[in-house]
Amino acid sequence: MTQARRKQTAKHDRPSFPARFISFEGIDGCGKSTLMEHLSRWLAEAGIPFIQTREPGGTRIGERVRELLLDPASAGMSGRAEVLLYSASRAQLTDEVIVPAIRQGTWVLTDRFMDATFAYQGFGRGFDLERLKAIQAWTTGDVRPDKTILLDCAIETALERMGSRNGEKDRIEQENLEFHRKVRQGYLDLARSEPERFLVLDAEMPLEEVVEQFHQKFWLAEVEGQGAPEGD
Ligand code: TMP
Repeated sequence: MTQARRKQTAKHDRPSFPARFISFEGIDGCGKSTLMEHLSRWLAEAGIPFIQTREPGGTRIGERVRELLLDPASAGMSGRAEVLLYSASRAQLTDEVIVPAIRQGTWVLTDRFMDATFAYQGFGRGFDLERLKAIQAWTTGDVRPDKTILLDCAIETALERMGSRNGEKDRIEQENLEFHRKVRQGYLDLARSEPERFLVLDAEMPLEEVVEQFHQKFWLAEVEGQGAPEGD
């Protein structure tokens, strides 16, 4: 999907710059949303068009599916139903939002994408990874993030960060520590298997330092250094 090009503006004589599809992943409470907010700000300052979305959700239909998935009252949902509902939300988001945006040259930042299904339903719940990969290929029509930012931290750190948030835990957050440990390990395994696509950040540090690392390793190294237009 990286062929989509941002239109060159005569006013600034900027180089065309490919729209990119970036996903943020990690266990609940790792700090993804904070990083996404920072990237949004850098993009806005550089005049690069982008949209922000999330999974499950991001569309009218997907948000309804999200409610169903995360509602603690959905306890007892079968594992296969869970895989298919996450996939349904993702299919809708891909067709309705992601593909049209990238075609227009708009960057897409998403809070989670298919790696969450591999980590949570594959490594966490024990579903066969190859089967999940086949389902995902169909779900997304093989659209994959160009870059996946994985925030890695201990479950205890994530729990502490979540503890400072208000509100009841959702159905997945209510899973036990062992489940979340498997998910964390799963994410690290996925990152090892695709080192080009993943950027793993140590989210054990204070969040300001994680943001600084992200700025250096992604924004400066992969965006500004590649001829991204400068801000006005
Ligand atoms: P979040 O918006 O707080 O990240 O909540 C989404 C929850 O759903 C989170 O606990 C991770 C989980 N999840 C899966 O189990 N599988 C998936 O494919 C996705 C996208 C999320």
